[in-house]
Amino acid sequence: MTVLGIETSCDETSAAIVRDGRVSSNVISSQYVHRKYGGVVPELASRAHQRLITQVVQEALDTAGCQKRDLDAVAATFGPGLVGALLVGLNFGKALAYGLGVPFVGVNHMEGHLYSVLLHDPAPAFPFLSLIVSGGHTMLVHVEGPFRHQVLGQTRDDAAGEAFDKVARMLGLGYPGGPRIDALASQGNPLAIRFPRSFLDPQSLDFSFSGIKTAVLYHLRDHGVPSGDAALADLCAGFQQSVVDVLVQKTMRAVEWTCVHDVAIAGGVSANAGLRAALGAACAGKGLRLFTPRLEFCMDNGAMIAYVGWMKRSSGIQSPLDLTAVAGLELA
Ligand code: KG4
Ligand code: ZN
Repeated sequence: MTVLGIETSCDETSAAIVRDGRVSSNVISSQYVHRKYGGVVPELASRAHQRLITQVVQEALDTAGCQKRDLDAVAATFGPGLVGALLVGLNFGKALAYGLGVPFVGVNHMEGHLYSVLLHDPAPAFPFLSLIVSGGHTMLVHVEGPFRHQVLGQTRDDAAGEAFDKVARMLGLGYPGGPRIDALASQGNPLAIRFPRSFLDPQSLDFSFSGIKTAVLYHLRDHGVPSGDAALADLCAGFQQSVVDVLVQKTMRAVEWTCVHDVAIAGGVSANAGLRAALGAACAGKGLRLFTPRLEFCMDNGAMIAYVGWMKRSSGIQSPLDLTAVAGLELA
């Protein structure tokens, strides 16, 4: 079964082909138009998706060595995300499926991130725990089997990636700020400046990152933006450490509660070297296996959407052609 997956929920225009559960192509076009604005501008994102979608889909087909007529289904993200951006990929996908006379499958972007860890070997075994950390989401999910998952905790305010991006903006590091902070933090001393950690109450697996972000803001107000490279690196290291500590402690608490042996991380922030190292050490200390997908499967990508589309079609599931984009779609 050959499935085309389309992802346009934010600022990545992506399309991919999954054939019998294996990725044959995964084309990702990142939009750089937002950089000078310090964040994603929704209207510009929609326009860029419209400009790029036809060529990105064609490239995904070409790279996989297949034609439109070889497709058995078309899958596209229908939420959560920016509604105007979602509509571009969703309508393109529905129209293509209709024109080809094949089933259409609407995919929840978060299910994409959740199952993206199954895209390559080695993959975790069910049941596993997944930490999804991206620009829009921070979530701990217990995955018992295909489409049997339970959200254990999520952010009450800023997502982890959002906190990275906002702190980077305060420091004038540009957008997206996560990779820049990660690189600087690797040169700094995480103990030089201690920012607060918000654990909420001990029984909660929810997250809150707005306090850490505000603490950085107050620090900059009182001490100014560091002028030297070493001081900037220390500040980034201190901030990153506070976010990583919370993510790791909550993940390990969730492991204790669910008794899983496998842990997976997904979403753009899972590329963070500090998080990978700290979670890797914590998991190794408890004899757990940690799965970190390749970067192209961590960030927003069409392969994870095609894969979930393939999983759904394998169970005979399809979506109606009047499916609409849902900006605030929850992970059910
Ligand atoms: O999953 P993703 O590509 O898109 C969303 O669904 O949001 O994640 C993008 C987020 C951005 O906030 C970006 O700053 C963050 O992931 N990010 C990182 C790193 N690479 C990307 N954050 C920390 N360290 C990184 N190395
Ligand atoms: Zn995402």
